Amino acid sequence: MSSFTPAPATADLGVFGLGVMGANLARNLARHGHAVAVFNRTLARTERLIERYGSEGDFVPAADLKNFVASLRTPRVAIIMVQAGAATEAVIEELAALMEPGDIIVDAGNTLYTDTRRREVSLRERGLHFVGMGVSGGEEGALNGPSIMPGGTAESYDRLGPMLESISAHVDGTPCCTHVGPDGAGHFVKMVHNGIEYADMQLIAEAYDLLRHVGGFTVEEIAEVFRSWKDSELDSYLIDITTEVLSHTDAATGEAFVDVVVDAAGQKGTGVWTTQTALELGVAVPAIAEATFARAVSSSSAARAAVQAADIAAGTTQAALTDPEERRAFVDAVKQALYGSKIAAYAQGFDEIATASKQFDWNIDLGAMARIWRGGCIIRARFLDDITRAYDENPALASLLTAPVFASSLAKVLPAWRQVVATSATTGVPAPAFASSLAYVDQLRSRRLPAALIQGQRDFFGSHTYHRTDDVEGVYHTLWATPERTEEKWD
Ligand code: 6PG
Repeated sequence: MSSFTPAPATADLGVFGLGVMGANLARNLARHGHAVAVFNRTLARTERLIERYGSEGDFVPAADLKNFVASLRTPRVAIIMVQAGAATEAVIEELAALMEPGDIIVDAGNTLYTDTRRREVSLRERGLHFVGMGVSGGEEGALNGPSIMPGGTAESYDRLGPMLESISAHVDGTPCCTHVGPDGAGHFVKMVHNGIEYADMQLIAEAYDLLRHVGGFTVEEIAEVFRSWKDSELDSYLIDITTEVLSHTDAATGEAFVDVVVDAAGQKGTGVWTTQTALELGVAVPAIAEATFARAVSSSSAARAAVQAADIAAGTTQAALTDPEERRAFVDAVKQALYGSKIAAYAQGFDEIATASKQFDWNIDLGAMARIWRGGCIIRARFLDDITRAYDENPALASLLTAPVFASSLAKVLPAWRQVVATSATTGVPAPAFASSLAYVDQLRSRRLPAALIQGQRDFFGSHTYHRTDDVEGVYHTLWATPERTEEKWD
């Protein structure tokens, strides 16, 4: 086969980009009874898809872009699944040139929401709908049911939504797909999903490290510990795959797989975006930031080698626990620290979404976000049921930490969590995300923060002014250079 016969405008929608994610998404759509136009710049990919999976449903293959667009019924829907950045930009332009007012272009990659906002404005001016759509669940999810986070206009969701909901994961009969909000809202929520994913993975990794180097457990034993946590509030996809990875033995050496992998974590950028964006919005996401920094530290090979050579270990104790009772208690403490930290990390992510939603007038339903993350996505977890309920009970929650279910859990786990963070500090087995998540909760708990002193310092060196506790509307400055240190009220 070297070309395809041009088809009339019958396809329900099209997928541009047939890498594994795009191909799987197209197959998922076809398997659910949608006629799917498919196109890839390298024709061989399209041919391969049709050869291998053509019998799974109604595919409409196209050999060139013109025919791809011509095969779509109106208003046309074209989903782009190519690399974020320049490749996506180029495809949007080419498609837009061939489309008509009312048609819908969907970017299903991990695109920075500011790019999505910019593209949405420019395509809207041309009469086109542009949908930035988060898709989570990896290759397997794309094929068998991902969590889908589409942004864009409500009108575009009317056309797209039923098809997307049909192919998404379902939990308790509810699709893990909903209209997130206008313009960049979908990509924003997917970005924060990934930030939470980074935090969750780092927290699990810290739990593993503490169990190994403080608890003295073998890799195999730790796999069993994680397996047993499946029957608890920690039950999640990430815990499942952690068990799998820890149970895996390297065929070549017979060593635990985790011991033959270079300990330098890679990243494609969504953790950095989530952190950068939080800084810009003035939202604290320390667990996500620590997780992102921890990947950077792990990859700083020169600095790590130099510091290791300098052998700076003063004041640390590294002897692993030997007493069976103490070891059992430590496992339980780590479990509690992990749960507390997880609550803090998710609270931070939801706070970031809430803040952006206000800032950009997105009107995002936070409970609905938790609901569509319950299945299909990388952070799917039993715990998301509780978050969904918490927002259903009180959509205006100022922080997830205050939802009764989490406030009472936090009260329960805080003593053990403190003990684990203290142990990390004294043994020198690092647990940055555990520690900063705890500090986050403690900062929010504190009736008074040392920020008052910082205000004094700022006023001292830069006349940056401060508010008084007895007159929060007023703006004050102290004349620090005068012997009297007279206070002035500024207008
Ligand atoms: C998902 C994932 C996915 C992400 C990978 C890799 O929701 O399916 O978040 O979108 O690209 O997990 O991310 P890093 O390479 O940055 O770890």
